[in-house]
Amino acid sequence: MKITFLLNGETVELVEADPTATLLDWLREDRGLTGTKEGCNEGDCGACTVAVSDADGTRALNACILFLPQLHGKAVRTVEGLGGSHPVQQAMVTHHGSQCGFCTPGFVMSMVAGHAEGATDHDTQLAGNLCRCTGYAPIIRAARAVESAPKPDWLATDRAFISPEILRGEAAGRGAEPPSSPTSSDELAALYEAHPDATLVAGATDVGLWVTKQLRELPKVIFLSGCADLKEIEVTDTHVRLGAMVDMNRMRDAVAPLHPSYGEMIRRYASVQVRNAATVGGNIANGSPIGDNPPALIALGATLHLRKGDTRRDLPLEAFFLDYGKQDRAPGEFVEAVSFPRQPDRLKCYKLSKRFDQDISAVCGCFNITVEGGIVTAARIAFGGMAGIPKRARAVEAALIGQPWTQQVVNAALPEFEVDFTPMSDMRASAAYRMETAKAMLSRYFTEDQGQLANVLEVRA
Ligand SMILES: Cc1cc2nc3c(=O)[nH]c(=O)nc-3n(C[C@H](O)[C@H](O)[C@H](O)COP(=O)(O)OP(=O)(O)OC[C@H]3O[C@@H](n4cnc5c(N)ncnc54)[C@H](O)[C@@H]3O)c2cc1C
Ligand code: FES
Ligand code: FES
Repeated sequence: MKITFLLNGETVELVEADPTATLLDWLREDRGLTGTKEGCNEGDCGACTVAVSDADGTRALNACILFLPQLHGKAVRTVEGLGGSHPVQQAMVTHHGSQCGFCTPGFVMSMVAGHAEGATDHDTQLAGNLCRCTGYAPIIRAARAVESAPKPDWLATDRAFISPEILRGEAAGRGAEPPSSPTSSDELAALYEAHPDATLVAGATDVGLWVTKQLRELPKVIFLSGCADLKEIEVTDTHVRLGAMVDMNRMRDAVAPLHPSYGEMIRRYASVQVRNAATVGGNIANGSPIGDNPPALIALGATLHLRKGDTRRDLPLEAFFLDYGKQDRAPGEFVEAVSFPRQPDRLKCYKLSKRFDQDISAVCGCFNITVEGGIVTAARIAFGGMAGIPKRARAVEAALIGQPWTQQVVNAALPEFEVDFTPMSDMRASAAYRMETAKAMLSRYFTEDQGQLANVLEVRA
């Protein structure tokens, strides 16, 4: 498997590289570039942040859960590649943004990527970088100070890099045998049908942890990052279609103008680094009961588009989740896209987690209730964290539909949550707290709909 990318301006060609070697291990152990730190090795702390560029721009990514083949054709910049002269580095000195310094290269690289993209919301940009000794105020001051500083010369070169293999129409490790990187959904379909036992790797924000934390061997892997057509977003008058490889930040840009509450929830999904990698397809296909997209998409009436070889089938998204760890997906079949109908915005997504930023939901409730002439005419309510799968609250919906949209009816519907769900207790929340919270979320939706309560997030802002 041959992988070509640019590292700090120098072309690197790796032949026969281990496909599940992480960029972090390779940088530190093979290249001696120890400026990129290992903190958690699971995408949480940002100490390993690098800036990765291609023609679409420059993104901060966590090197600890990034496999080398995902870099094919891209340009990687580590803190060593800044040469000490980036305006962000000087600003960190001027504003006293570093003490022990362990987190500093990661912060600097997140700020470098933010600066390259013109970021001004530094709280969001840096939510995936943890510092235990400096405190964030000096770091944010440094980020603000360089907002309009000139871009470094290397940025244009990094973004213009195209590997010779890509110019010749070749992809990393392309061939009949995995590990391989198909360049389209057609190639992926043929390859996966022939190798249904292979592990698909999309953004690797789950699969990366199987390797770094569970020390799992993945003998056959297929990387989806080269499948350009799976990254397409289609917004028409009738529907929105998101390709399986659309990352969370691009997805958020597409859905936030249509459904602002969904966009706000995705802002709290992990961190910029994780959202730059994690994909819509991965967040559905992993079948997690606490993934944030499935409840929102189910509430919007989404359809899942699956493909095996040349055969495609569609199903309502909620039907995909059969049981904990079990989805309606045949061997060799993959998620091609998800779509939902355009509709007036009635969607509210409530994500409850122990920490505001960078934390997986304890409960995620998504409500899409239509009221016409004072009567509830349609209701789609879906939850994460309340069952072994993302699940609709059908009994609650039934208690609302056809009834007047009143506090009395909402109160009468609350006991139906106990018909729909038997949540569990775990480290994120107790069963009783989850149940109480789910009920409170419906009350909150009603109260907000009556215009009686300003959105809590707007109050914070
Ligand atoms: C620090 C951190 C914070 C996180 N915070 C959140 C959070 O707040 N909310 C949340 O919902 N999740 C969160 N996650 C979980 C993770 O980001 C998601 O589950 C993610 O969407 C997975 O997508 P991926 O592209 O990275 O998938 P991968 O890790 O590449 O794959 C995940 C699974 O899906 C399969 N797969 C991937 N694509 C396809 C496809 N097209 N067809 C069929 N199978 C496929 C893979 O084989 C694998 O089994 C977090 C993860 C980390 C590391
Ligand atoms: S080492 Fe913590 S995010 Fe990579
Ligand atoms: S400066 Fe010590 S952890 Fe941030």
